[in-house]
Amino acid sequence: MTRRGGLFITFEGTDGSGKTTQIRLLRERLMREGYEVVETAEPGGPPIGVQIRRILLDPANQELDPRAELLLYFASRAQNVAECIVPALKAGKVVVCDRFTDSTVVYQGAGRGLGQEVVEALHQVACGTLQPDITLYLDIDLETSLDRARQRNESQAGPAESRMDDQSVEFHRAVRDGYLKLAAREPGRVRVIDAGHDAATVEQAIWEQVAPLLETARVR
Ligand code: TYD
Repeated sequence: MTRRGGLFITFEGTDGSGKTTQIRLLRERLMREGYEVVETAEPGGPPIGVQIRRILLDPANQELDPRAELLLYFASRAQNVAECIVPALKAGKVVVCDRFTDSTVVYQGAGRGLGQEVVEALHQVACGTLQPDITLYLDIDLETSLDRARQRNESQAGPAESRMDDQSVEFHRAVRDGYLKLAAREPGRVRVIDAGHDAATVEQAIWEQVAPLLETARVR
């Protein structure tokens, strides 16, 4: 791929891994250092993506077919790439995205058993050659992750977005295994961050991974 400007950072992790807090902390730090930051999320991002997100996470949609689910995640992503991510990178900004194709590799490819090949083929359609420059995978053990996700759903999100969190423990275990395999396959891009520590420690570990890239990337 020809070298483009900007820096594309993605965050991955199981539900309750602390991604939301760490994304906020990274964005604030980047802004303090003078970088222009665009934050986005999947499923979601631009308004069309947000509409697709509602279908995907609505617990009423129990009959959603795994292949329909897969295509909807990529529909949201294609829109986000075209409308938000690529224009921001072209403008030399730092893009921080909460989840990207790695989520589909592990949740639909591994978790739902649809396989990695189909996910990679759809990535080509939705994103072309676009890949993150760095992916921060926030690793946490299954028990802590499920506890935190349950608490969050009860206190904030309510039942409206719990469809994926409601999956079985086996599903969530397959997801974590999927992430660890992915990190072993692509150690250059996917960095495993131990998310079992306090937020400040995790923030520092993330910064140590991101800072060297900022020096070499063409970002403002
Ligand atoms: P969200 O509320 O954004 O959860 P989190 O804070 O954990 O990121 O919900 C996103 C859910 O969608 C989450 O359970 C993971 C799932 N997901 C997939 O299954 N495939 C995907 O490609 C993406 C992007 C997310």
